[in-house]
Amino acid sequence: MSNSEQRLFQQHLNGLQQLVQDILQTNGLDGIWIHAGEVQYHFLDDQPKSFKINPLFNYFVPHTQACGSWLYLDGVNKPHLYFYQPNDYWYLHEPVPQSFWTEAFQWTILKHADEIKSSLYKQSVDLNRTLYLGDAVQLAQSLGFTHINLQKALNYLHYQRSIKTEYEVHCLQQAQFAALCGHRAAKNAFFDGKSEFEINLAYLQASEQSDLNVPYGNIVAINQHSAVLHYAQLQRKSPAKRNSFLLDAGASYLGYASDITRSYSFDPNDEFAELVQRMERQKLALIDQMQPGYHYLSYHTMMQQSIAEMLHEFDLVRLSAEQIFEEGINRTFFPHGLGHLLGLQVHDVAGFQQNRRGTHKAPPEAYPSLRCTRNLEPNMVLTVEPGLYFIPLLLNPWRDHPLGARFNWQKIDCFTAYGGIRSEDNIVITADGAENLTQKAQTALNG
Ligand code: GLY
Ligand code: MN
Ligand code: MN
Repeated sequence: MSNSEQRLFQQHLNGLQQLVQDILQTNGLDGIWIHAGEVQYHFLDDQPKSFKINPLFNYFVPHTQACGSWLYLDGVNKPHLYFYQPNDYWYLHEPVPQSFWTEAFQWTILKHADEIKSSLYKQSVDLNRTLYLGDAVQLAQSLGFTHINLQKALNYLHYQRSIKTEYEVHCLQQAQFAALCGHRAAKNAFFDGKSEFEINLAYLQASEQSDLNVPYGNIVAINQHSAVLHYAQLQRKSPAKRNSFLLDAGASYLGYASDITRSYSFDPNDEFAELVQRMERQKLALIDQMQPGYHYLSYHTMMQQSIAEMLHEFDLVRLSAEQIFEEGINRTFFPHGLGHLLGLQVHDVAGFQQNRRGTHKAPPEAYPSLRCTRNLEPNMVLTVEPGLYFIPLLLNPWRDHPLGARFNWQKIDCFTAYGGIRSEDNIVITADGAENLTQKAQTALNG
């Protein structure tokens, strides 16, 4: 795999070099410094926050443990990596990496953070013609940078990031495997009667992650907790009765994230289990229809219509699917977007950005939570994550509404104890359709 990774990475980097040239030319600049980031501390505390790499650094360098490192780019010469590796007996610093990508860079080892100053002045003739990209704005100012996180440059980079290279699709594909191993262990733990806390441990162990390096906080939700969209607690006690389980959890590969959700009914033969299966089928049917040239919003709308049909067919709302959709009742049950771009960030950049110049297109008023207003293009990677939830906060206003009498409250109240359903896969748009990265990895794992 490493040889092909090396080839894919070199192609990826060559494309980025071209992009750097464009950015420099358009903005009258000579070079770009990308700062991986610094150790940050909690307020009034000497405890460091867990380090999260600048995704722009990670876009060029497939290494997430590079706190204090810098990258210099001029778009022509080999990118120059100033890798921070201090002599330190308090913390262990990663050894200098030896991997498929390391030869693509010139290397300088920084033993002290201050050494970047002399490197900076040696490398950049005129700091007024040099761009800083990173979050240590005060440091950048003190070093003499005048161009800091220039929006025009960020727009270029973000737009490019929304169309993945072959190397990036490979990483996103690899990120599925660990997550799916975790999902399998978590499912077993749920059916074995374990608590949310214990299920989370099972997930972390099987996916070989710590809770500090998962790409986002795991959502491990039993029963009505799955109706809390970003449920972050982990109950240590098992509920007396278990109805349902929702797990939204991913993994990372060289910084690229997977974002996968599965839902289960504890009783595989009850009506909630039917609803779960139906949702799974709807998701896969929608993915089968996705293709370049169509607006992501159109697929979101189709899924909202499917939810209206499900509400009708499962006798949850006693109106036709068309009326349910017309009245927007489906939005009470599916109150989030169909999904989002996926990459180095779980909710990846440029979901609303229509071009390199940065034109922003907001989601429509009816769907304010939609995170993507783009036309689909080949090599975009997205999640597809329809949901159907029984959320008291959203349902209660309907109780006094003239249409409230059409709601099957008895059944809805019963399903409230199950919380909700979400099914989430990661897909890549191809030349004429969409490939399901999650399903592909699952098939490979099933062998
Ligand atoms: N895990 C967060 C999301 O699905 O968007
Ligand atoms: Mn998710
Ligand atoms: Mn997601």
